[in-house]
Amino acid sequence: MSSHHLVIITGANRGFGSSVAHSYVAHSGANAISFVLVGRAQQGLEDVLTELRNAGSGNNVAIHGVAIGDVDLADIDTLENSLTRIRDAAKQLRLQSNTITKSVLINNAGSLGDLSKTAKEVTWQETRKYLDFNVVSFVGLCSSFLQDTLAEFPKDQHPDHRTVLVNISSLLAVQACSNWSLYATGKAARDRLLGVIALEEKRNNVKTLNYAPGPLNNDMQADVRRTLGDKEQLEIYDDMHKKGLLVKMEDSSSKLVLLLKKDEFESGGHVDYYDK
Ligand SMILES: NC(=O)c1ccc[n+]([C@@H]2O[C@H](COP(=O)([O-])OP(=O)(O)OC[C@H]3O[C@@H](n4cnc5c(N)ncnc54)[C@H](OP(=O)(O)O)[C@@H]3O)[C@@H](O)[C@H]2O)c1
Repeated sequence: MSSHHLVIITGANRGFGSSVAHSYVAHSGANAISFVLVGRAQQGLEDVLTELRNAGSGNNVAIHGVAIGDVDLADIDTLENSLTRIRDAAKQLRLQSNTITKSVLINNAGSLGDLSKTAKEVTWQETRKYLDFNVVSFVGLCSSFLQDTLAEFPKDQHPDHRTVLVNISSLLAVQACSNWSLYATGKAARDRLLGVIALEEKRNNVKTLNYAPGPLNNDMQADVRRTLGDKEQLEIYDDMHKKGLLVKMEDSSSKLVLLLKKDEFESGGHVDYYDK
């Protein structure tokens, strides 16, 4: 059966978000993919879209899509406008194809917070700013995506359409480590929200997944090694980096896309790259 996926990815211009988009083309098994690539850097998103189109022609996957730049998910004053732009783009793509079989939201964008600080040094002001980006905008993205998707594909009229929400999570969502207070708080909150949505929308063919990609060999990990205040953990990350043990982004993003393709994961659960 022909399959056409609508895939929204935040922070798709670089890092893991871009890697997930590439793996989606290579491994999802979809015949056609309509991407909504979201982020701050318009040009970076457009470059990724061009790469995806090229990859699609090599893999026999029809790639459609749009780059929604100038979206600062940390800016609460422009969030409503940003969400509207993302919703409009998704709607446009749905209208263009009229054949969407699966709608996927991949909440990838995220930030570390100041890892030099312990919790007692963190101010409420920086906490508020951190949570605006990593939790408040996440909630807005999830709820608007669900509203539109369920309105567009009511189960009684589209029994085969599937909806999936993914949180790019972290080990820190389920394990406490020194100096990660904001990051761990944000990831735990995101995990729990998707747990709730899994229950609320089960009857609507909606599944959710919290995926921890492992310590990736990328810019964010370099920032961790540069800023982390806890010496013990720093040694572990330095050692992994020196020994080439950090996870290749492509390996982790492929694992995520294959999980989504197999569709055997427990909805609302937390899956780590290292899980069997
Ligand atoms: N790297 C790791 O080892 C690791 C491990 C576990 C989990 N993760 C999670 O994986 C996800 C992706 O991280 P990454 O490793 O790819 O990090 P990254 O290299 O720092 O990329 C972060 C992405 O988020 C975007 N972003 C940052 N601030 C934004 C804002 N205010 N509004 C909109 N977009 C914004 C960035 O766009 P700009 O180019 O505009 O900055 C970029 O696309 C994150 O949720 C992270 O917590 C990463």
